[in-house]
Amino acid sequence: MIISGKTAIVTGGASGLGEAAARRLHGVGANVVIADLNEERGQAVAGELGEGALFVKTDVTSVDDVRELCRVALVSFGNIHILVNNAGIIGAGRTIGRDGPYNIESFRRIIEVNLIGAFNVLSNVAWEMARNEPENGEKGVIINLASAAAFEGQIGQAAYSASKGGIVSMTLPVARDLSRDGIRVVTVAPGIFETPMMAGMSEQGRESLGKQVPFPPRLGAPDEFAHLVQAIAENGYLNGETIRLDGGIRMQPK
Ligand SMILES: NC(=O)c1ccc[n+]([C@@H]2O[C@H](COP(=O)([O-])OP(=O)(O)OC[C@H]3O[C@@H](n4cnc5c(N)ncnc54)[C@H](O)[C@@H]3O)[C@@H](O)[C@H]2O)c1
Repeated sequence: MIISGKTAIVTGGASGLGEAAARRLHGVGANVVIADLNEERGQAVAGELGEGALFVKTDVTSVDDVRELCRVALVSFGNIHILVNNAGIIGAGRTIGRDGPYNIESFRRIIEVNLIGAFNVLSNVAWEMARNEPENGEKGVIINLASAAAFEGQIGQAAYSASKGGIVSMTLPVARDLSRDGIRVVTVAPGIFETPMMAGMSEQGRESLGKQVPFPPRLGAPDEFAHLVQAIAENGYLNGETIRLDGGIRMQPK
């Protein structure tokens, strides 16, 4: 896909990896719609990008919000060609804690946002992409966010790992579903990136995690993720696959 002149929706685009993807896609000529719960940050990023960027306050778990997001994107830019399906939350807790079993509402919330929310967005956006005029047979590309935790979840990551494992597992069937409409579906599984999601961790903790990365021995930079997003959009033969972006790290139990 030639990105310039196309339109991208980036969920969770007000922060971290999503923000980096929004900035890069806009930088190579795409219109960008930032969809996030964080209105202040989302407006600020869209305002900074200027023409060809806008913010729509969106909760990815809400069907109404996502339909409104699509409507605004279509009214503003005509079509939607790229989805960076990135919004997500993290949560930690052992299967049994000191005070009792895992809080099931917390488990449900993580699945609701990371897995059901992601499917809600991709299904509604794909519906709109399917109406695009194909370019070299292609109508759109969807880029989902999983995590290394989908493969090597650490202690306390049962819910988060389950949510991201679901993203990995649905990648192929969704790509198969959307193949007749010329829409590709690719998932990225990042290792550990320097984003606000990681801000809760101490400098020492981040440094120690960075050293566990075989090479380069550091955390990933958000623009390295954004660079892969660009490559996935541009490479028309990538489909139905999950790509690890992690410097070769394999997470240890803790
Ligand atoms: N940072 C990492 O090391 C890392 C590693 C693996 C996977 N990931 C995944 O990458 C994605 C982005 O992570 P990040 O580190 O940039 O996180 P972040 O916390 O910096 O950004 C996430 C954004 O998602 C938004 N969001 C949360 N819930 C939402 C909802 N219901 N509707 C709309 N927006 C919502 C937040 O407001 C925030 O702006 C997540 O899916 C995360 O699980 C991150």
